[in-house]
Amino acid sequence: MSTGAEQIDQAALHANAASLEREIAWFTRVLNQRVDNYFASEDAAVEQPAPTPPDVRDDPSLYAQTVRECGMKPEERVVLLLSLLPSVRPQTLDLLLTRNKLIDAIFTEFGGLRGQTHNGFLPTCETALFILAGDDQRRRFELMRMFEPDHFFAQKNMLRVLPPEHGEPMPRAALAAEPTYLQRFTSGLQQKPDFGAGFPAKLMVTAMEWDDLVVAQEVKDELDQIRSWMRGGPGMLRRLGLDRMVKPGYRTLFYGPPGTGKTLAATLLGKDAGVDVYRIDLSMLVSKYIGETEKNLANVFDQAQNKNWILFFDEADALFGKRTEGSTSNDRHANQEIAYLLQRVEDFPGVVILATNLRSNMDEAFARRFQSAIHFPLPDGPQRELLWQKLFADRTMLAPDVRLAALADAHVLAGGALLNVAVSAAIRAGRRAKPGQDILITNDDLLRAIKKEFIKEGRTL
Ligand SMILES: Nc1ncnc2c1ncn2[C@@H]1O[C@H](COP(=O)(O)OP(=O)(O)OP(=O)(O)O)[C@@H](O)[C@H]1O
Ligand SMILES: [Mg+2]
Repeated sequence: MSTGAEQIDQAALHANAASLEREIAWFTRVLNQRVDNYFASEDAAVEQPAPTPPDVRDDPSLYAQTVRECGMKPEERVVLLLSLLPSVRPQTLDLLLTRNKLIDAIFTEFGGLRGQTHNGFLPTCETALFILAGDDQRRRFELMRMFEPDHFFAQKNMLRVLPPEHGEPMPRAALAAEPTYLQRFTSGLQQKPDFGAGFPAKLMVTAMEWDDLVVAQEVKDELDQIRSWMRGGPGMLRRLGLDRMVKPGYRTLFYGPPGTGKTLAATLLGKDAGVDVYRIDLSMLVSKYIGETEKNLANVFDQAQNKNWILFFDEADALFGKRTEGSTSNDRHANQEIAYLLQRVEDFPGVVILATNLRSNMDEAFARRFQSAIHFPLPDGPQRELLWQKLFADRTMLAPDVRLAALADAHVLAGGALLNVAVSAAIRAGRRAKPGQDILITNDDLLRAIKKEFIKEGRTL
């Protein structure tokens, strides 16, 4: 955070907020028109022109830039917004929670899911199809193209289409925001995504430095071990004649609650050693919709081997967890993929980092093959205070009533959650500020954002 790129950029925030405001207003008109039409009786339904999307030609926001760069069509903007809304303005979708009085249930036509901790409506592909095409089947088929792997949504990793439960039809897939883009479209924080066609790995970069990582000394020590290994480990094994006895490579497990810095630590290890860190996108791997998995994976491992990359498997329990015992062809397919992956991971001569929230989810046989397992616990009070301070290195954004130390002391939140709090409070303050005026975050903004974060995590304040 000392380098500034992870700090919140006032100008970017203002521009994005204004763009999203217009975009959401337009989206609301599109949604209302669809719902009105849908419920109008046959003869009352009149063909109305579709609402015109906001003009983004001279709009400087990162959101508008992306719309321009991708040459996004209105239907693509609707889908992108749908993915962002649960995080940005969930109440926009409340209309879709209307109950069908006949069956006392939500209209199946609207698609959507209810989250485990999120109270609002979580859109699915079905929701997009409903809004854009109603029951026009031909149009629906055309629109499905947006969810295919060769569409820029998938290629640029702009949003997530989470594979539906086994056996459910594709339109049941949840549409979710991709954190990188969500941040870019709100606070303006930028990370560089790098997602080639059929390449299920993403280059991880961070503007943060080693010293920005706030962890206990034990964790730093463990990480230092990996750094030393990268500097001279393989050569040392060779000199000791041990290289024929132990598997090459260094496999380590990072475990701990969400947002405690596992991904960040992995990224920093690479930055520090001057090697690239690639995150393997596990959500793409077991999805038969994407297909060609083994070939793509082999491609990643081959390249990684030649280029001395660090491979980072996030949410590794999805793959390395206790293998599914199901017997559907999908399960078998997934197990086969896992077996292949495990083999490649074991044979990989470089650093492989696996991250998981729950260590107990790991397959024991596999866990034994790790050189180390590093625990990332929730930060303690002093660590939280340090995190707050780094986040608001620019104190001029804070109103005089803000007491970071007191907030840090009172609320146990991980670094990732604190980042969300900061962004959300800044957005709140930004909506209040007049154009050209500086954003001033109050203690109340922060408290509300903390509350929101707690609700998201299913906790109470
Ligand atoms: N220990 C930390 N020190 C400094 N910043 C942190 C720390 N933990 C989290 N952050 C901030 O929160 C962001 C998100 O954290 P990160 O993605 O590393 O969490 P994670 O442990 O990988 O979470 P998950 O289990 O959800 O993947 C980081 O980019 C950083 O800005
Ligand atoms: Mg992570």
